[in-house]
Amino acid sequence: MCGIIGYTGGGQHDAASILLRGLGRLEYRGYDSVGVAVQTDLGIATRKVAGRVPDLWELVARMPVYGASGIAHTRWATHGAPTTRNAHPHADCGERLAVVHNGIIENADALRAALERAGHIFRTETDTETLAHLIEDAPGDTLEARVITALEHVVGTYGLAVICADDPDKIVVARQGSPVLLGVGDGEYFVASDAAAILEYTRSIVHLDDGDIAVLTPAGYHVVDRESHVQLRAVDDITWDLEAIELNGYAHFMQKEIAEQPETVRSTLRGRLVFDDGAARVDGLNLTSADCAAIRQITIVACGTSWHAGLVGRHTLETLTQIPVTVEYASEYRYRRRIPLPSTLTIAISQSGETADTLEALRAARAAGSRVIGLVNVVGSTIAREADGGIYLHAGPEIGVASTKAFTSQIVALTLLGLHLGRERGLGLEERQDLVCRLAQLPGLVAQALQLEPEVRLLAEQFAQARNALYLGRGVNFPVALEGALKLKEISYIHAEGYPAAEMKHGPIALIDADMPVVFVAPHDDVYPKLLSNMQEVKARGGRIIAITTEGNGGLGTLADYQLRVPQTAPLLSPILTVIPLQLLAYHIAVLRGCDVDRPRNLAKSVTVE
Ligand code: F6R
Repeated sequence: MCGIIGYTGGGQHDAASILLRGLGRLEYRGYDSVGVAVQTDLGIATRKVAGRVPDLWELVARMPVYGASGIAHTRWATHGAPTTRNAHPHADCGERLAVVHNGIIENADALRAALERAGHIFRTETDTETLAHLIEDAPGDTLEARVITALEHVVGTYGLAVICADDPDKIVVARQGSPVLLGVGDGEYFVASDAAAILEYTRSIVHLDDGDIAVLTPAGYHVVDRESHVQLRAVDDITWDLEAIELNGYAHFMQKEIAEQPETVRSTLRGRLVFDDGAARVDGLNLTSADCAAIRQITIVACGTSWHAGLVGRHTLETLTQIPVTVEYASEYRYRRRIPLPSTLTIAISQSGETADTLEALRAARAAGSRVIGLVNVVGSTIAREADGGIYLHAGPEIGVASTKAFTSQIVALTLLGLHLGRERGLGLEERQDLVCRLAQLPGLVAQALQLEPEVRLLAEQFAQARNALYLGRGVNFPVALEGALKLKEISYIHAEGYPAAEMKHGPIALIDADMPVVFVAPHDDVYPKLLSNMQEVKARGGRIIAITTEGNGGLGTLADYQLRVPQTAPLLSPILTVIPLQLLAYHIAVLRGCDVDRPRNLAKSVTVE
């Protein structure tokens, strides 16, 4: 969603350049407008555009702003259209304050009405502007005291940064439900919604908790709570390099991230496989043997692609642990009636670790008495910190809005979890050892599956002008059909649906004609013969079949119009391979259609609002 960066450095660097470079690193999150406010000799100077970061660079080149500190923002519109006026930073009436904000002020309408009655003049349609006016009126000797007082009136979520012309070196930061972190440099300090924005300048970051207020000046920083009590927060090191957030010769981040999967799968497995004992070393789960034995049910909560990984995980966990598993849309789960969950393990799956719906589902599960673990990629993210334990994916930063490498790593992590719980609950040694060997082979097999890319590119040419597509699969590969359809629709804007293959005859079969590409996810497994019957049904109605199948799986010559063959692996692991050609297919179709692959319209990378 929106991105924030702030900088204060006592004059050692030009703030505007640092802020704009930082905004450039946040572009991947998806946005519609950008702005910057800098403390200059003449007060706060603001530049904003409805457009992209290069447009803001152009504006700042024409109308420079020089200063030693400032704040900047990329906006993804929620309240108010994506116009220049509505872009952040927002000012108070006297233009002495500037505010950037991520999140939603839920009582913005009531606050605005009260502030207008008190004589404040609003210039935008945003909820954020209410914050600037509230702080303008708030009593207090310091900016932080005024921010704390103002926030007492606010209902909603925020990660925000405020500057004031009266105290030009200072930035005040507040967090409630929207991620913000601090960057610690040498005589210079940063605030950002995402470490990518500041990695160029520092690797030392401080994650803030909800309720924290941070005060940054070139002399240092401190964190307090709402009662102004000092809070100690650890300084963490960012473990990945700048290279991870650069294209390095690839045309798009999505293409780079698809190609990285042999390495990212290896990285999720690294140090976690114990061959002799057929075990997974996943100490971060913080589950004792007694905890594992006590689990009566597992609930997985997630959104989007992570939810699809959860559906794969249901098969994996039920097979390996014999524990019943339900998979819930986090956004639906959080609002359902609370049933006490004493013997339940809840698993929150999230690449970003910041998805608001998943975070709230985790909190709801915990409130109902469940133990909660997180399968998360971003180290130090809110879900990772709030869960009782978990498994980090270690897939490196995922920049492309469409999730790819996180999906395969999530399935690997779910398998490691299944192996661990299974071992605790009586899964046989031989079966475990076999699975460990199969897992170890995965990076090589993923690399082989990626070699399909030239074939997939040719296929993409055949289907680039399709208007609809159907993706079908069964069992553990039904979620892969859903994921293939999601990838295609979100980046190419072709309408695509995923269905369990056998469900097709209960409705969707009516759609099939010669113009409808039907993708079957059909690796070799128990339900393969059934899928062949489903293919016959499509063929009989003139549909064009693309089969994602396995090497050595027998001929599909008379049935499938196109075949893409991935290597054989254990059936439970097959989604990690079958999804690869589908990621590539969506990518190449979107490129051929001229779509902005890494920044699909209306989408944002990390959905931190409900
Ligand atoms: C699709 C996609 C989204 C995310 C979803 C959850 O390509 O990226 O559907 O999977 O927004 O995000 P995380 O995993 O960060 O919780």
